[in-house]
Amino acid sequence: MTRNSDWGGSDALAARLFMTRAHSQELAAPLSAEDQCVQASEDASPTKWHLAHTTWFFERFILEQRLPGYEIFDPRFNFCFNSYYETQGARHPRPQRGLLTRPSANEVRAYRAHVDQGLHHLFASPESEAAEVLKLIEIGINHEQQHQELLLTDILALFACSPLKPAWRSEKIKAQGDAPALTWSSFEGGVVRAGHDGERFGWDNEAPRHDTLLHPFRMANRLVTNGEWRAFMDDGGYEKATLWLADGWAHVQKEGWRAPLYWQETDGGWAQMTLHGMQEIDAAAPVAHVSYFEADAFARWAGKRLPTEFEWEQAAALSGANDEDRPAATLFTPRPAQGQGLVQMFGDVWQWTQSAYSPYPGYRPPEGAVGEYNGKFMVSQQVLRGSSCVTPQGHSRLTYRNFFYPWQRWQFMGLRLAEDA
Ligand SMILES: [Fe+2]
Repeated sequence: MTRNSDWGGSDALAARLFMTRAHSQELAAPLSAEDQCVQASEDASPTKWHLAHTTWFFERFILEQRLPGYEIFDPRFNFCFNSYYETQGARHPRPQRGLLTRPSANEVRAYRAHVDQGLHHLFASPESEAAEVLKLIEIGINHEQQHQELLLTDILALFACSPLKPAWRSEKIKAQGDAPALTWSSFEGGVVRAGHDGERFGWDNEAPRHDTLLHPFRMANRLVTNGEWRAFMDDGGYEKATLWLADGWAHVQKEGWRAPLYWQETDGGWAQMTLHGMQEIDAAAPVAHVSYFEADAFARWAGKRLPTEFEWEQAAALSGANDEDRPAATLFTPRPAQGQGLVQMFGDVWQWTQSAYSPYPGYRPPEGAVGEYNGKFMVSQQVLRGSSCVTPQGHSRLTYRNFFYPWQRWQFMGLRLAEDA
């Protein structure tokens, strides 16, 4: 799955680990104990659960196995905070995570402190020289970063349910003028290499690097904006069955979709719930919180299509885009495009692709418990590429494959258009 921290020794890895652990607490700091307990939907999890589950991951897969004399904080937590690992035994039902009023938020903080102390002891022991341990720590860091993003998307889902419409952060979002005109970059076809090359960290689902055939295509310079989505709505986009995949149209009818998730019609037009509370909709900012079904219908309405994940990866590679190079977010909301050429590849919204989430040629799930991490979800989901405004900076990369079911839309999900050349 990974080659361990070959760009820094175990000291550098330890520094990143404890920074990541502390950052999760910082994200939760504005939240009350009540905020941290409630589950907004079956898809979302409570903050407290995210904080405990990421801690369980380090305890269960690393400290219990590799730190002699480590004392398990509370043996009952394996049942409470195992997410989906069949090899780790029975677990609390996912839709009922919000019923865990115990352990309290304070007890979960104590659990985190106990496990952090264990991790410090691990780094002071000869075990920290073992390649297998370093590899698992790297996985644990990346796993916790994924949950940092989920913590925020799940808090947004929760706060959107509240009539008080609380803000996780209080900044007002100011419109920044028009989006740059939509332009198209052309790319040649041919056999190209795609996927992770095994250098530095990558998830197992990004590998092996392999040949794939592209036909000549064009890619939009920027993401689809709220203003463009409004035009789709005004043109009856949510009312024309012919624009939709059959399963998508069934969802429109069943769920009563008529706008992206978190859009609300007010006296003054449409407004949007964000991590900064209710805000006016910035027409130039990328549309977010749309499902694959909606993205696909929009693309059909626009006379275009969604890119494949390999077109996206090739275009991103040739444009020199990189998640590590994006500026640190000061606002936790997608921002309007700036600059020329292919922009917004990372850091605003995850971008739906028309590629099904399936294994690459030669893929094998890794050995051991973490073999359940990605491989067993490779059916019925779509791949999203890039990263979002709530993805920890530098967590994603060119070959990163995010995946969700085509009806899900509570993540920061949007789209970029493509077409055949
Ligand atoms: Fe997890």
